[in-house]
Amino acid sequence: MIRAQVRGVGHYLPERVVENDWFTTFLETSDEWIRSRSGIERRHFAAEGQTTSDLAIRAAQAALNDAGLRPDDIDAIVLATSTPDLTFPATATIVQAGLGMTRGFAFDVQAVCAGFIYALSNANAMIVSGQAKRVLVIGAETFSRIMNWEDRGTCVLFGDGAGALILEAAEGDGTNFDRGILATDLQSDGRFRDILQVSGGVSSSQTTGHLMMAGKEVFRHAVEKLATSTVAVMDQAGVTAADIDRVVPHQANVRIITGTARKLALPMEKVVVTVQDHGNTSAASIPLAMSVAQSSGQLNRGELVVTEAIGGGLAWGAVLLRW
Ligand code: UT7
Repeated sequence: MIRAQVRGVGHYLPERVVENDWFTTFLETSDEWIRSRSGIERRHFAAEGQTTSDLAIRAAQAALNDAGLRPDDIDAIVLATSTPDLTFPATATIVQAGLGMTRGFAFDVQAVCAGFIYALSNANAMIVSGQAKRVLVIGAETFSRIMNWEDRGTCVLFGDGAGALILEAAEGDGTNFDRGILATDLQSDGRFRDILQVSGGVSSSQTTGHLMMAGKEVFRHAVEKLATSTVAVMDQAGVTAADIDRVVPHQANVRIITGTARKLALPMEKVVVTVQDHGNTSAASIPLAMSVAQSSGQLNRGELVVTEAIGGGLAWGAVLLRW
């Protein structure tokens, strides 16, 4: 059977690093509060004029280099973002042109912090169905553009960045020892759309709006829903927590990451944590963490990896893959 295997990975972080202390210059907050409540120590912010597609192109080029491929070797780009360059066209098409890719097709996926999980699942479906052989899956965000800088409960939590993964069709045996994506689970529940949303949009206010979050509410849903989705993909593939080599969770809050790991009986030594350096980069957080983990030797070919995320919608999900 056809499997969607990881062929390359890469990331890009904007140059400007902002430490927690920066926020104390204009907000009633502290490095201690931000660290202890979220695990975040610093984040990167895009330079003025630097767009989501700029970050995505750099991450995609890094993934192409890692894979030893050229842009025209790619059949499709699936880009997850909630901070597109423009209302339309899709940021993915801007990336396509920026890479110098003259064939294939490109589109965006919008599932906020779960965006990369949704994009991976879509790319997997296209590969398994034979619609595409190589898919460039990107998560890229400039959340600094939608922050309310007067809201200390949100603006200290988010950052900018991009990560990219290249998935390639390869023949597998149909067992959970195959490399590639083994199981996916996507969920959403729009009844909870108000607890994490942006206050504007094209068809409602004709403004971009600012991020608003009922943090405690989102937190309450996060651990339970992430654990449920993770169990769903493990069950689909017939594996248990003991079989998992590495967990790459969405990087929103280290307390959510540890709480979910505890619920699943997954030891923290198996969990990739980058939230301290990146903050919450929404759809970019998972591919960023994967790329950093591979570079540092935390993620190796043949390892069984589970990745999970939750965000606005609420939308959440998990993917099980053998790296
Ligand atoms: O990626 C999408 C998913 N998003 C998430 O997963 C985020 C989920 N939520 C969270 O990560 C946490 O709820 C937060 C980090 C946002 C907040 O942590 P918390 O432990 O839930 O704190 P809280 O919201 O209950 O706030 C506690 C206190 C409040 O003061 P009072 O009302 O108890 O007097 C806040 O006003 O902390 C105050 N507070 C702050 N204090 C200093 C809120 N933000 C700050 C701040 N600095 N930046």
